[in-house]
Amino acid sequence: MKAFLFTCTLVLWQIAASARSSDQDSQLIPGSLPGGDLNGYSIDYLKSRRARRALPPADEPDGSPVTEEGDASDLPTCLLCVCLTGSVYCEDVSPDMTSVPTLPKETAYLYARFNKIKKISSKDFADTVTLKRIDFTGNQISEIEDGAFSKLTLLEELTLAENRLVKLPMLPAKLTSFNANHNLLKTKGVKANLFKKMTKLVTLYLANNELEAVPHIPDSVRTLHLQNNNITEVNIDTFCRSNDTYYLRPSLNEVRMDGNPVILSKYPDSFTCMKVLPIGRYR
Ligand SMILES: *[C@@H]1O[C@H](CO)[C@@H](O)[C@H](O)[C@H]1NC(C)=O
Ligand SMILES: *[C@@H]1O[C@H](CO)[C@@H](O)[C@H](O)[C@H]1NC(C)=O
Repeated sequence: MKAFLFTCTLVLWQIAASARSSDQDSQLIPGSLPGGDLNGYSIDYLKSRRARRALPPADEPDGSPVTEEGDASDLPTCLLCVCLTGSVYCEDVSPDMTSVPTLPKETAYLYARFNKIKKISSKDFADTVTLKRIDFTGNQISEIEDGAFSKLTLLEELTLAENRLVKLPMLPAKLTSFNANHNLLKTKGVKANLFKKMTKLVTLYLANNELEAVPHIPDSVRTLHLQNNNITEVNIDTFCRSNDTYYLRPSLNEVRMDGNPVILSKYPDSFTCMKVLPIGRYR
């Protein structure tokens, strides 16, 4: 009798349990189509983005009037830009983007090319110390506050090419790649030891500026572009060391100095520590 009761209880308990679990299964079904939802979401998202571009003022709430000449800073960053996990793409944004957008927390990669950003302030990246790569190619940046990048200790790649910079701010020490091609940089705007402590720097692009001298180049650099500047001379301490004839630069394997007034063959002692000669004028 005891055994019979026990079996009955067990069977009832099993029935109840399986009902519960099938309930759970059926509840899971509507939510178990992440692909479909996601596709639907991104198509809607792209449609609304296109609509916004075609008809900028029409669907704006009354509180934030945005005209065709309006400023992008009134709109949430992830409506203007494409935000994917950790990355923000704000390329050629309409309406014009004239300042750095507010970034979602944890942003690691920011691509803000071909906009009309004019200035970078210290507060722009104060809350996004997670950044690893920033690309501002093709903006109108003429001013960067000195502290703007200095707290970005994870930053590895920084591109400021095709802007209007006359001077460079402090740069974070862990950069592996820095690109400021096509600006208006003069030697007095580039602190003598700006790159000195950047022991991980591999590529340094400063072509098409107005530099009068070669800045201090760290040993880690492999590719150095200084073409089309206004460099008139080099000396033995530019790349090598006058007090150390055993000093070598094994990493440096591409140096472009073409398009400068300097005639490199006048300074043969200046390149003895290098395994390649700079590309440039020799007569
Ligand atoms: C290049 O430097 C010389 C002085 O060394 C200066 O006279 C000239 O204006 C500079 N050119 C440019 C384009 O900055
Ligand atoms: C050479 O001079 C530099 C400073 O110009 C100094 O840091 C370095 O220690 C000197 N090296 C030797 C071998 O004297």
